[in-house]
Amino acid sequence: MQRLNNKTCVVTGAARGIGRAIAARFHEESGTVVLTDIDTRAGTAAAAAIGCRFEPLDVAEEADWARLAEVVPAADVVVNNAGITGFEQGPVAHDPEHASLADWRDVHRVNLDGTFLGCRYAIAAMKARGSGSIINISSRSGMVGIPAAAAYASSKAAIRNHSKTVALYCAQQGWTIRCNSIHPAAILTPMWEPMLGTGDDREARMAALVADTPLRRFGLPEEVAAVAAMLASDEAAYLTGTEVTVDGGLLAGSAASPG
Ligand SMILES: NC(=O)c1ccc[n+]([C@@H]2O[C@H](COP(=O)([O-])OP(=O)(O)OC[C@H]3O[C@@H](n4cnc5c(N)ncnc54)[C@H](O)[C@@H]3O)[C@@H](O)[C@H]2O)c1
Repeated sequence: MQRLNNKTCVVTGAARGIGRAIAARFHEESGTVVLTDIDTRAGTAAAAAIGCRFEPLDVAEEADWARLAEVVPAADVVVNNAGITGFEQGPVAHDPEHASLADWRDVHRVNLDGTFLGCRYAIAAMKARGSGSIINISSRSGMVGIPAAAAYASSKAAIRNHSKTVALYCAQQGWTIRCNSIHPAAILTPMWEPMLGTGDDREARMAALVADTPLRRFGLPEEVAAVAAMLASDEAAYLTGTEVTVDGGLLAGSAASPG
């Protein structure tokens, strides 16, 4: 497939996990892919393995986006994928009663501010041609409450809504700059490692985490990347302001409906 031929594609948080899989898939689709990440070492290695370019970028830093705009002034596809749960350094209280304001803000700073800045960069990088595709990686957590991860859920819900605002704004300007959100759930990436551990109970933990998922397994980063490739391509020309769940059927209601 060469659906992204002649398209410059920027992917944030692309050093590993879903972002890396999206970058690899876009490359397979003949896109000119720019991987970006805060982790320069892993990002450089990932870009070399795929055969693409890497640019360092902390999505929460306005100055980093300004630098990216200088070195990649035009883009056809921007995927705002970088995100954190708040549990990267180990267990932290993230419920609405005990979460600290600092921890709440840290998660929003990366997930929400990062996506806002990424959309702003994307509009500037696309508007000369008046077309493009912005893909924001939200989460199933952007659609339901998550008692133990309040900031993550709040930031992902805001990404879902901001994607629609961006879609409407661009349409109002007369541009065919589309903006959509993807809502994955339980995709097996390094993000899960702190929760899965390496002990004997790892398999049992994994099974328990997907017990309510109708397809009864974790999803693969490549399965999210396939949806991103479709949204990035011209095949999705009439899709804007919409949301695609990639969750093994979880949000279809099995966990909430009678068995
Ligand atoms: N894995 C899942 O089950 C799942 C489910 C729903 C949504 N998501 C979302 O998908 C996206 C990717 O998740 P993943 O599982 O691949 O995560 P991951 O932790 O494996 O990878 C995240 C990447 O983002 C980078 N990153 C972190 N902070 C950054 C910053 N400030 N600036 C730039 N890069 C930064 C990291 O270095 C890393 O390379 C995230 O937005 C996540 O919330 C994941």
